[in-house]
Amino acid sequence: MNAITQHIPVLYEEALYWLQIRPGEVYVDATLGGAGHAKGILERGGLVIGLDQDPEAVARARTLNLPGLRVFQRNFRHLKEVLQEAGVSQVAGILADLGVSSFHLEDPKRGFSYQKEGPLDMRMGEEGPTAYEVVNTLPLEDIYRILRDLGEERQAYRIAKAIVERRRKTPIRTTLELAETVRQAVGFRKAGHPARKTFQALRMYVNDELGALEEFLRQAEEVLAPGGRLVVITFHSLEDRLVKRSLKESHLKVLTKKPITPSPEEIAGNPRSRSAKLRAAEKEVA
Ligand SMILES: C[S@@+](CC[C@H](N)C(=O)[O-])C[C@H]1O[C@@H](n2cnc3c(N)ncnc32)[C@H](O)[C@@H]1O
Repeated sequence: MNAITQHIPVLYEEALYWLQIRPGEVYVDATLGGAGHAKGILERGGLVIGLDQDPEAVARARTLNLPGLRVFQRNFRHLKEVLQEAGVSQVAGILADLGVSSFHLEDPKRGFSYQKEGPLDMRMGEEGPTAYEVVNTLPLEDIYRILRDLGEERQAYRIAKAIVERRRKTPIRTTLELAETVRQAVGFRKAGHPARKTFQALRMYVNDELGALEEFLRQAEEVLAPGGRLVVITFHSLEDRLVKRSLKESHLKVLTKKPITPSPEEIAGNPRSRSAKLRAAEKEVA
């Protein structure tokens, strides 16, 4: 059983504001999670096609039995396919609230947390290698690049070397074993846990997060109806840069010159929202 029973939706009012919900229209929530944002769309009269790649999130969402919500267990990189299955060709709006949910972080057996002992898994869905496989089988050079490029970790080489030296003796099996290996390699850090960036990088690699996001953004533009809106909430600079660039290169009209960020009150109530950035764009009416 998960100790946690709810996930507080980030930038909730802002996301609904920028989506501009119109009653009776169909919206996609590409990252259903705890269905917090989806409930907001439903309450405003919208219909929701909800996707999540995580079987646990999908099972939880299904038990909510929300009228107007159809749930699909899929990666959002298959957005067009899902809409075809649903018999929908265009939608009035699409929301993506990226990354992991509180359910993931709080559940030690999923292996996302450097503070809770668990197996090195980190898969959000059922595809991709586990973090255990990445850490224990990839060559040093690959691990180095993953940490450098996806974690923006300045001491990527030192950490990759420590991982490879450690696994020569015995495989690195758990989250805390990995966190301790990193801590020993780089020492104490004033700004946050020393393993934070390493865990972020591995999670992004395991789930091919940037690859999926890029495919999703391309398809989102295609399936939006004229006047339809795309709203994306990111949680770190690599994702935000990718969204900003894709929107600029798309034919969508960017509505948020600067990204929308949470208020100090929201951050105080939900520290996880601290790094959130929301960007919105609209498909122009031809
Ligand atoms: C931050 S949570 C979303 C929370 C949700 N907005 C709410 O209000 O409860 C992100 C969710 O998106 C899912 N997710 C992340 N990447 C995904 C992807 N590429 N395809 C489908 N689901 C994804 C995760 O499994 C997680 O449940």
